[in-house]
Amino acid sequence: MQDAIARKFDYKTLSANPIRIADLGCSTGPNTFIAMQYITEAIELQYHSQGLRTPEFHVFFNDLVSNDFNTLFRNLPCDRIYFVAGVPGSFHGRLFPSKTLHFVHSSSSLNWISRVPGEIEDSDSVAYNKGRIHYGNAPKEVVDAYATQYQKDMKAFLNARAQELVAHGLMMLQIPVAADRIKDSDTAHSKMFELLGSCFMDMAKEGIFCEQKVDSFNLPIFHSTLKDVEEVLESNGDFSIKEKEIVYPQNLPIAPDVGMLVSHVRAGLEGLIEKHFGGGIVDELFQRFAQKVEEFPNIMNVQKLKMAVLFVLLKRMPYV
Ligand SMILES: C[S@@+](CC[C@H](N)C(=O)[O-])C[C@H]1O[C@@H](n2cnc3c(N)ncnc32)[C@H](O)[C@@H]1O
Repeated sequence: MQDAIARKFDYKTLSANPIRIADLGCSTGPNTFIAMQYITEAIELQYHSQGLRTPEFHVFFNDLVSNDFNTLFRNLPCDRIYFVAGVPGSFHGRLFPSKTLHFVHSSSSLNWISRVPGEIEDSDSVAYNKGRIHYGNAPKEVVDAYATQYQKDMKAFLNARAQELVAHGLMMLQIPVAADRIKDSDTAHSKMFELLGSCFMDMAKEGIFCEQKVDSFNLPIFHSTLKDVEEVLESNGDFSIKEKEIVYPQNLPIAPDVGMLVSHVRAGLEGLIEKHFGGGIVDELFQRFAQKVEEFPNIMNVQKLKMAVLFVLLKRMPYV
């Protein structure tokens, strides 16, 4: 992809200084720093190959307001070649003025939806997700409600970026998906969240909190099928697809060991769980989760559980 960026970054048309780059859903690092290094190096290469001086870079780190931006800024690489700014807010809406960005990057974040669909928390709805925290092993109506929200959010995301990117600006997305022809609810993540959900239910049955508390808690995370994501991207009139690659993890464990898996899931979900259940239950919940992962080691095997990652490089069409 670094090579693709170097080839597709149209320095002549953009002729910008500074070059503005946004990382959407950056979290606290270090992945965002590695990505920003790759992108700035790729653009530098393009300028050098034309005998041109490198422009200045301005990188905008975006995440939800709840993100720990202090940790992000404390860990900024000392040898970076870019200026920085933090941009709190949801990437499902506008974050930047019109036509100001030259490059947008987002990795492993577009599987977060903007809100849990209302019907799955409505006890009168056929899509009521009773006794679960996600759509793994749930009725079709629950999966469909998630899928509909995901489609809306992806369109809103593309719309917002279409206004913020300059004409010919690039957008590189890395989107975790459920591999082709695989039911969304059969992915590694669904299985993992199903297991985590069963820990919540065990705790409810033991009276640590009531079952309704679990019924009204659902994770705003969805792994669309590859086909559905491709359809949204292809049907969008503001971008053209310049490069696309689908990576299927080959026999790679989802994490090197159970401890790493549990701390990874905990880091991602702790804030949401605390907000709904209070902080007091988190240690016990993840101890139980670790025990269950030990009992079901298949959870660790990504390949068996049908995940893929879609890498796509999009170019903003000229404005009409
Ligand atoms: C799994 S982390 C990915 C972090 C990093 N990009 C990486 O590749 O390692 C997903 C991040 O997306 C953020 N996120 C989720 N929904 C978001 C939204 N609507 N707007 C901005 N960030 C969001 C989460 O807060 C989280 O930090």
